[in-house]
Amino acid sequence: MRQALRLARKGFTPPNPRVGCVLVREGEVVGEGYCPAAGQPHAEVFALRAAGERARGAIAYVTLEPHCFHGKTPPCTDALIAAGVARVVIAILDNNPRVSGKGVAQLKAAGIETVVGLRATEARRLNEDFLHFHETGTPFITLKAAMTLDGKTATHTGESYWITGDSARRHVHLMRAQSGAVVAGVGTVLKDAPMLTARLPNLPRQPLRVIVDSHLRTPSTAKCVQLAELAPESVPLLIATTESADPQREALLREKRVEVARLPANAQGRVDLKALVQLLAERETISLFVEGGGELHAGFLQAQLAHKVFFFIAPKLLGGANAPTPIEGQGFATMGEALSLKDVKIHRFHQDIGVEGYLSWGDG
Ligand SMILES: NC(=O)c1ccc[n+]([C@@H]2O[C@H](COP(=O)([O-])OP(=O)(O)OC[C@H]3O[C@@H](n4cnc5c(N)ncnc54)[C@H](OP(=O)(O)O)[C@@H]3O)[C@@H](O)[C@H]2O)c1
Repeated sequence: MRQALRLARKGFTPPNPRVGCVLVREGEVVGEGYCPAAGQPHAEVFALRAAGERARGAIAYVTLEPHCFHGKTPPCTDALIAAGVARVVIAILDNNPRVSGKGVAQLKAAGIETVVGLRATEARRLNEDFLHFHETGTPFITLKAAMTLDGKTATHTGESYWITGDSARRHVHLMRAQSGAVVAGVGTVLKDAPMLTARLPNLPRQPLRVIVDSHLRTPSTAKCVQLAELAPESVPLLIATTESADPQREALLREKRVEVARLPANAQGRVDLKALVQLLAERETISLFVEGGGELHAGFLQAQLAHKVFFFIAPKLLGGANAPTPIEGQGFATMGEALSLKDVKIHRFHQDIGVEGYLSWGDG
């Protein structure tokens, strides 16, 4: 199962889950596979193809309950049954109502011994976005920032390239590629001109790019806009704005193949982030990777919408009372109000570290 989980991590599958499968017969691995991207064959199919006749009587280790309905691909339960697999060991059940428990029931009905729960905690974490989406109907939201050891995300003159080293930045591209959407505030677009793409070799997909921009200040010449004009299907760009935005600016951006969504405004006249999350949920966006800047992060925290924080810290000092920080806004007045992260993990990326933890808002 450990190997199946390792394989599953290689997938770029939103809105589908990441799944790995290893087939073992008489103590020997006879086939393995993972689902590389949504719409492509599932992990079980790759593993069964590799095993061929040797799948008969084998044990299948699968990180998620095999799916049992005709979607973009035929049911994996049928494939496992037809191949004559003797036993199926599953890490966790799928909570998508179209599968949940039904996959196991089909395997059992076909006389296959089926066990659930091996390495369940890891498997749950691997697909936390997918599981959250099917439990709540809304995307799993991660706030990401890269800062210096003294907590600055750019210099006081606005320079922010690069704070962290290659290894941490590569990890960010991986996280982007595995997210439903990458989200940035218009402040970052104006200062940093980011492309908001995942830049790694041979990626099967790009996340939807989203800019939160209440008054359509995004220049039509911005790099991220130019990219949308070149390839609107493969690197789509959505700008979330409000009713008060200038229609002419909207028309200009639409000409550049940018999608503009007018959403309700919050009390400050800015994009209502709950409405944005709802819009993305309706499009089956299972996760949002919010890459700041600090004002947008503050907005997501104020609205109690974020589920996880992943901050990178580089051993550099910048100083500057006016240099930006990962969370701006007004902030809390007392230590008692500080948000404490749960289930914290610390990662090393050469000289940089990554701190990851979960937020809870008191409603479970
Ligand atoms: N190192 C890093 O990881 C990193 C990452 C990103 C940015 N940065 C740095 O951060 C700085 C930019 O950060 P920033 O805080 O100025 O800008 P930001 O967070 O990127 O964008 C903030 C803007 O988003 C718009 N917005 C719309 N709806 C909002 C809402 N509900 N809540 C909050 N904002 C909303 C607002 O402008 P409107 O009112 O016009 O809509 C707001 O001013 C730059 O210096 C950049 O280099 C660093």
